[in-house]
Amino acid sequence: MEIIRVKNAEEGGKKAFEIIQSGIENGATVLGLATGSTPETLYKEMRESDIDFSGMVSINLDEYLGLGGNDAQSYRHFMNTQLFDTKPFKETFVPNGKAENPEAECKHYDEIIDAHPIDIQILGIGTNGHIGFNEPGAPLDGGTAVVDLTESTIESNKRYFDKVEDVPTKAISMGIGSILKGKKMVLMAYGENKADAIQAMINGAVTTHVPASALQNHSDVVVIIDDAAGSKL
Ligand code: F6R
Repeated sequence: MEIIRVKNAEEGGKKAFEIIQSGIENGATVLGLATGSTPETLYKEMRESDIDFSGMVSINLDEYLGLGGNDAQSYRHFMNTQLFDTKPFKETFVPNGKAENPEAECKHYDEIIDAHPIDIQILGIGTNGHIGFNEPGAPLDGGTAVVDLTESTIESNKRYFDKVEDVPTKAISMGIGSILKGKKMVLMAYGENKADAIQAMINGAVTTHVPASALQNHSDVVVIIDDAAGSKL
């Protein structure tokens, strides 16, 4: 893993943007994207850039089960407002949280990933070491699946909802196996509350207890962290 230390999330967003920019110059056409607060500075750089993404495809990691694109808390809505409304892509994929048959939606999503191999996968990390919504215990080689969110994830994400009861308890998430198919991984983490997860991901054993530790098995991983997130390395 290549570790890049940055002063703050603003500088981290610029670094991640540079990686995407040079990836595109070298032929990348498919971006794997994440939601949450971590990639917001990257999306700002992308919005403000003069890059034309209209020939590109994006594939998002996850979506809350039960939320549709018109729900303000859905990840589809987040992506539209953070990026796609300003910078249109040729095609943007986010799992359909309102799918009548969620299992079929998962299978369909893995077909999408296989049809559009991801060149650069953007990742954040949960305080419990999750990537996507692959919580501790998730198989390290799994495909897209309906997953239960842990208490700690629901706690962390309640900031986007009026009350904790409104936070969905399930999601559709790319599996760790689906994620690792991407050619290049770029994981960003900022703040002290990510320090334990970053230390376990980089220096710990590869274990289902720390889903992000599976990245040790990938040959091209860039980790962008501030000093607080890297304080336990
Ligand atoms: C989001 C995702 C999650 C987040 C993680 C960190 O699509 O897949 O793994 O990256 O929960 O969230 P933030 O960035 O809000 O700390």
